[in-house]
Amino acid sequence: MGTAAPLSGPVVVLGSTGMLGRAVTSLLRAREATVVTPARPEFDLGSRASIDRAIDRGTAVVINCAAYTDVDGAEAHPAAARAANATGVGWIAERCRAVNAVLVHFSTDYVFDGRATSPYLPSHPKHPMNEYGRSKSEGEDAIAASGAGFLLLRTSWLYAPWSKNFVRTIARIGAERPVLKVVNDQRGRPTSAEHLAETTLAMVAAGARGVHHAADGGECTWFEFASAIVRGLSLPGRVEPCTTAEFPRPAPRPGYSVLDVSSTEAIIGRLRPWGGCLADVLERLERPL
Ligand SMILES: NC(=O)c1ccc[n+]([C@@H]2O[C@H](COP(=O)([O-])OP(=O)(O)OC[C@H]3O[C@@H](n4cnc5c(N)ncnc54)[C@H](OP(=O)(O)O)[C@@H]3O)[C@@H](O)[C@H]2O)c1
Repeated sequence: MGTAAPLSGPVVVLGSTGMLGRAVTSLLRAREATVVTPARPEFDLGSRASIDRAIDRGTAVVINCAAYTDVDGAEAHPAAARAANATGVGWIAERCRAVNAVLVHFSTDYVFDGRATSPYLPSHPKHPMNEYGRSKSEGEDAIAASGAGFLLLRTSWLYAPWSKNFVRTIARIGAERPVLKVVNDQRGRPTSAEHLAETTLAMVAAGARGVHHAADGGECTWFEFASAIVRGLSLPGRVEPCTTAEFPRPAPRPGYSVLDVSSTEAIIGRLRPWGGCLADVLERLERPL
């Protein structure tokens, strides 16, 4: 990956308390960028005035890591998901256009319906199968309609040494339970939030614009991912494959959501494979899990 040049001008990180926001903020600080991190309650995606206050004139780049991310919760509360992920994001984009800041935003593999059999290109027609995916897709459309300069990165299966995520959950229950059943019929690309933060800053430094996909290299099923976590931590639990139908959840999930990252790799070079990113994170899992 190309090394990121220093960002010129202040960077506003929205959602800095979240899993990805924390990774982005620490990386920016390590690179000595001027970072502003508006957070709740002063900054709220549901308040246009708070968004306008959070993004001051003179801001060069806004990196939006804030979102309604409860995929199952969105089925019961679609209006809340839409308010944050579509309406709020549209307001952020309009503010960016007004102050001439570049908007960096993250979207999801869940904008696709999972019926493809080869990796999804950024231009593939969207067809979300759950409320979360619909709200994120509408947020993408609002950004495109805003007239702001933007870099939109779709990512998938995020994890980090902190926050609630699949890696930390498996690390915990793999130590507690003799057997873990994990779905083997959903295939995608795990993504280290810290790797995504590096990818993001490299794309910004390269001046990338438009819609791209950013994830770790390679692909796997959740069962394969869980097996690698248990192996990597030498946990006693045994991972067994099961089907999605055996464990129904409120929100339907796409069966195949491998993102094609070639447009990103054409700009910043090869993305690190997920196994190496995972090994790096497993060494630094924050406790308690
Ligand atoms: N997690 C995944 O597997 C995944 C996969 C694909 C794409 N993505 C996308 O990647 C981005 C980052 O996800 P993440 O997993 O890092 O999210 P996360 O850990 O859930 O963090 C979400 C952040 O948004 C803030 N937030 C939520 N609602 C808000 C509101 N109404 N007003 C202001 N701030 C609000 C949260 O603040 P509080 O701390 O105050 O709650 C938190 O800082 C999101 O755009 C997400 O859609 C995630």
